[in-house]
Amino acid sequence: SPLHDFLQRLPKCEHHLHLEGALSPTLLFDLAKRNRITLPTDDEAFGSPDKLHTRYGRFTSLNDFLHYYYIGMSVLIHSHDFESLAWDYFQHAAVDGVHHAEVFFDPQAHIARGIPYTTVLDGFQAACQRAERELGITTELITCFLRHLPAADCLATFELEHVQDSYQSGVITGIGLDSSELGFPPQLFEEMYGKASEQGLRRTAHAGEEGPASFISSALDTLGIERIDHGIRLVEDAELMAKVAAQGTLLTVCPLSNVVLRCVPEIKDVPIRKFLDAGIKFSINSDDPAYFGGYILDNYCRVHEAFELHVNEWEGICRAGIEGSWCGQERKTQML
Ligand code: ADE
Ligand code: ZN
Repeated sequence: SPLHDFLQRLPKCEHHLHLEGALSPTLLFDLAKRNRITLPTDDEAFGSPDKLHTRYGRFTSLNDFLHYYYIGMSVLIHSHDFESLAWDYFQHAAVDGVHHAEVFFDPQAHIARGIPYTTVLDGFQAACQRAERELGITTELITCFLRHLPAADCLATFELEHVQDSYQSGVITGIGLDSSELGFPPQLFEEMYGKASEQGLRRTAHAGEEGPASFISSALDTLGIERIDHGIRLVEDAELMAKVAAQGTLLTVCPLSNVVLRCVPEIKDVPIRKFLDAGIKFSINSDDPAYFGGYILDNYCRVHEAFELHVNEWEGICRAGIEGSWCGQERKTQML
């Protein structure tokens, strides 16, 4: 359709994409076989890629999804597994008209399984270089920390020599905070974010996905974050919403994710119109596309169906995405 083509051609930036969340059931089963990884035998969902895909359509919460997400990544062993995974994502991103992608990964989830950080990073870096060379997609890599683990564990990972090397060399641009939100408030991670700030790293955190608006204010005040991942519960605090609008902090909204994980009943309940009316800057993203049934363009199309945005509004959303990116000014100017 003409609208699909219009949305496809917009200069899209993706800011909220977990590379481990791009693991399709097909690739998951292929890698399990190749790496001789036994998948759980007590869960019928692991009977076939089809059954697993069907189970993904029935998530009941963030934690229900995360259970499958952490089992899924157990098949990632070698650098080329991580490269295949990220390359799969970048090919989808290219088809969808992504110009620039700032992608997350979870070092602790791999280190805890005995996979060295350098193995993970080498694979992801190779895919990023190939995406730039062959697809013209520029990239930034962001290490996310798992908030369901003790803050001391996150800090210890942040301070690992190889992790610090990747920050100092500029291979990694910044840090994020993900995994289970309820019960794990932002202020637990104040020390790590303080150090990241001193080192000149960019900072974001998941906040206000399942958790309350107070987690958004706490993440801004105690962690000094420059973007807010999800942030949909910002609408519950008018005063905070006015503050976020005034300071121009970008929200990385993931509409399909919010519906599939039951944070909202339907796409029309994602506060897109409220954010536009309040002057909140936001980008539209896919989060974990292989688990949530759609990549970035599906998210754009679903938002358009629900809100019938004006061409000018779509152009404004993409402009905010470019301006809120963590790439250099030259690249932003190219995209604008
Ligand atoms: N890890 C991967 N996707 C996530 C999400 N949507 N929220 C929190 N942690 C995640
Ligand atoms: Zn996320």
